[in-house]
Amino acid sequence: MRPALLALVVQLAAAALALGLLNVLGLQAAWWWPLQALLAASLSILARQPRWWWLIHLLFVPTLVLALQWGLSPWWYLLLFVLALLLFGRVDRSRVPLYLSNQAALQALEQVLPQGARLLDLGAGTGTVLRYLVRRKDLQLAGVEHACLPYWLAKLRLAGSGSALKLWRGDLMRTPLAEYDAVYAFLSPAAMPALWEKARREMRSGSLLISNTFTIPGQPADQVIELNDWKGARLYLWRMP
Ligand SMILES: C[S@@+](CC[C@H](N)C(=O)[O-])C[C@H]1O[C@@H](n2cnc3c(N)ncnc32)[C@H](O)[C@@H]1O
Repeated sequence: MRPALLALVVQLAAAALALGLLNVLGLQAAWWWPLQALLAASLSILARQPRWWWLIHLLFVPTLVLALQWGLSPWWYLLLFVLALLLFGRVDRSRVPLYLSNQAALQALEQVLPQGARLLDLGAGTGTVLRYLVRRKDLQLAGVEHACLPYWLAKLRLAGSGSALKLWRGDLMRTPLAEYDAVYAFLSPAAMPALWEKARREMRSGSLLISNTFTIPGQPADQVIELNDWKGARLYLWRMP
């Protein structure tokens, strides 16, 4: 089951259970939301969701109750939703949010890219990677990004970087990989198995798949570079057979 759907099921089940408990125990209605919150967190644990979901489930309805007390106009909620959609795209499907490669990752990436390589940044975000690598005049740079706001920001940041650089809006899973010597991905654990299947199908022998931070289950990397940053992050490199 998709995590977003599972989250909905957990919240609704906790709401119904809390209602039932209120009736059985003869409690006042004010107990409903604390009970719902505790039950939602417990169900999330039982469903073996990762820990951050426990907290989200615990806080979701209490936050709603608080927000309702502030009496905010419904337009604010719509505005926030639209902003999140523009910033993150269909993150419920991709399960890859926006965060940016840091300086250590950029420097390490620059060093492993062969002379004259054609590089694709899968999920280019706000163009941080491409903008950094523009200094390497020998490289042919490309990036694909599906979320609206990061894409336009990247376009602005990369304006004037030369016509050789290509950035387009699209789905990375529908982007052919065969023409690239190196493909860089800073995605999420959820995205890696499908990316590996795609890379194996499409990438040419000898080309490089480079992942910032996230490994591929059951596929040890051919090279691992410690970034020595505060997160203890690494670059993982697979050379296609
Ligand atoms: C963690 S950010 C990395 C941004 C940039 N590559 C960097 O390293 O700074 C991942 C990016 O991938 C984008 N993304 C996620 N799924 C995608 C998809 N299916 N197609 C295109 N872009 C996607 C997200 O919107 C986000 O901007």
